Amino acid sequence: MTHAAMLGLGVYRPERVVTNDEICEVLDSNDEWIQTRSGIKTRRFAGEDETLIGMATTAAERALAVAGVSADQLGCVIVATSTHPEHTPASAPQVATRLGSTTAAFDVSAGCAGFCHALNLASAMVRSGAEKYVLVIGVEQLSRFMDPTDRGTAFIFADGAGAVVVGPADATGIGPTAWGSDGSQAHVINQTPSCLGGHGSGADHPVVQMEGTAVFRWAPFAMADVAHEALRAAGISVDDLDAFIPHQANLRITQTLSRNIKLPESVAVATDIVDSGNTSAASVPLAMEAMLRSGEAEAGDVALLIAFGAGLSYAGQVVTLPPHE
Ligand code: UT7
Repeated sequence: MTHAAMLGLGVYRPERVVTNDEICEVLDSNDEWIQTRSGIKTRRFAGEDETLIGMATTAAERALAVAGVSADQLGCVIVATSTHPEHTPASAPQVATRLGSTTAAFDVSAGCAGFCHALNLASAMVRSGAEKYVLVIGVEQLSRFMDPTDRGTAFIFADGAGAVVVGPADATGIGPTAWGSDGSQAHVINQTPSCLGGHGSGADHPVVQMEGTAVFRWAPFAMADVAHEALRAAGISVDDLDAFIPHQANLRITQTLSRNIKLPESVAVATDIVDSGNTSAASVPLAMEAMLRSGEAEAGDVALLIAFGAGLSYAGQVVTLPPHE
């Protein structure tokens, strides 16, 4: 077995910045409530010419350039997403083709935890020697799957993409993954109308719906156990961390979770939700890039990733932060 690490990170943030005031032109809410309850000030929505596959491809090209890996060296492309508009075919083969690769490519559906799931698969492939380089992409276009008048979701979700190249390394760069699921809470974050309704007319466009308070009651406590499990598996304690990069679900969840895992003040905490909203499977790599860009964290720093969401599904691991564009 060899070691695996993230060799390069690239992201794509859509051009258009959307303020809370703009959201509240149709949503019965206000800027103060949104900031107080979620931490969000702005988010980005993709325009007509910014597709899910296009955003994923650009983030991937940037990650490959940083890693110094060419598309034809890739052994697998994994896209984590819940908002590719088709169940079939998956988005990953189309992304691979745009990159100039004919390698194995498939999508992972694990809600907001998708990126950390895909990272675990990539790490296992590289460590086993099955593949040398694996591309992992988290991408969402949630603005297409929201009811802009729904007070539970319209202000929270957003669009973007982040990608990493996983490859061989001299030391462990991706620790063992603590992961799991709780299907008894499947109803908490779901899609309506469900495909189970039969042959629809196509008139009803599905949207994501969420019992936010139920997630709020669960995540800061259940994810503290997952954090401890990931740290234990990596053989380190919270004091050894440089950065904490949880899924950017809600700033208050991040703050409560940080307290619950007794994170020392010295550990930098990702707060990309303030500028980017909740971008589901893209949020962890986007938050990683924001910390590296701002200087809050550096390549080579030790970080704890934790992601959770629809399923309910969750995954977390200790990683060494990659170089970025
Ligand atoms: O990424 C996948 C996982 N998802 C998450 O992690 C999301 C987790 N949940 C959350 O982020 C929060 O639950 C929300 C931000 C979605 C909602 O915050 P909350 O503190 O749970 O609000 P609430 O639903 O308990 O509502 C509190 C109050 C209610 O009014 P009363 O009954 O106290 O008078 C609501 O009617 O706020 C009202 N309210 C709103 N007011 C203005 C609910 N939604 C809104 C709104 N604007 N959008």
